[in-house]
Amino acid sequence: MTENASPNSALSSGQTSHAGASIVATNMTKVYGSGDAAFHALGPIDLDIKPGEFVSLIGPSGCGKSTTLLMASGLEPCTTGTIKVDGKALTKPLSEVGIVFQDHLLLDFRTAMNNVMLQQEIRGLDKAQTRARADMLFDRLGLSHAKDRYPRQLSGGMRQRVSIARALVHDPSMLLMDEPFGALDAITRTQIRHDLEMLWLETRKTVLFITHSIEEAVGLSDRVLVMSNNPGRIVEEIKIDLPRPRPAHLGEYPEFSAYAERIYKIFAKLGVYKF
Ligand SMILES: Nc1ncnc2c1ncn2[C@@H]1O[C@H](COP(=O)(O)OP(=O)(O)O)[C@@H](O)[C@H]1O
Ligand SMILES: [Mg+2]
Repeated sequence: MTENASPNSALSSGQTSHAGASIVATNMTKVYGSGDAAFHALGPIDLDIKPGEFVSLIGPSGCGKSTTLLMASGLEPCTTGTIKVDGKALTKPLSEVGIVFQDHLLLDFRTAMNNVMLQQEIRGLDKAQTRARADMLFDRLGLSHAKDRYPRQLSGGMRQRVSIARALVHDPSMLLMDEPFGALDAITRTQIRHDLEMLWLETRKTVLFITHSIEEAVGLSDRVLVMSNNPGRIVEEIKIDLPRPRPAHLGEYPEFSAYAERIYKIFAKLGVYKF
């Protein structure tokens, strides 16, 4: 997908491009509500995510993955502890961030391109520059033919690709993804995993990626953080030492099975599976 890109059309070169941010959380906890209704959802947890790193959070439903992601975006404050992005404690929602949710959240009355260009309107960005970047993202995501289509005219995978373009068009320093491919079929998921990996290799944004899929976590990440629940904790950190780009069939690597087994074993120990 990138073969035709000239040096002038790179997504990550030049002074205008933002490098990945660091995300550091220390003793971070989240308690929702107060008094009798207080619910200790998360932590304490520590995070130390390096600029440009691709880190996945995997764990059972309700263990606090989305909470962690919202805290990394500044949308939810810490109850105790701190979270810092590029060394600065988060006290309000970050603007230098792109977020992709499981639901594409596209506006159905706007074309794919105009959904992405909404960022330019809202943020008051330069129109020509943002449009050029949007064109590049559509190219990398294999969507060049679909710019003028409306969301209802796109497949589920294409809608998520538009969401990714929207999340990256303002050149944020990090990308937060909350089960972005959870609603897609297995074949589409495998392709979009590869396309996201190629885009990440080109842009080197810091990515915090939430998934239920062991294959997706191992297939994409530099590091996988495995979480347990009640309250959510990080119980294991697994460094994924596989060459990139990674293949469609991860089983090509004997190491993949070893990583997957490690995660299954942790889940078994946590009682996630009752077989
Ligand atoms: N706004 C909220 N108010 C109260 N409880 C919440 C709120 N958001 C999430 N929770 C609870 O916190 C726990 C963690 O939720 P969440 O972060 O969404 O988990 P996950 O994304 O891992 O499924 C769950 O028990 C959930 O019900
Ligand atoms: Mg969630």
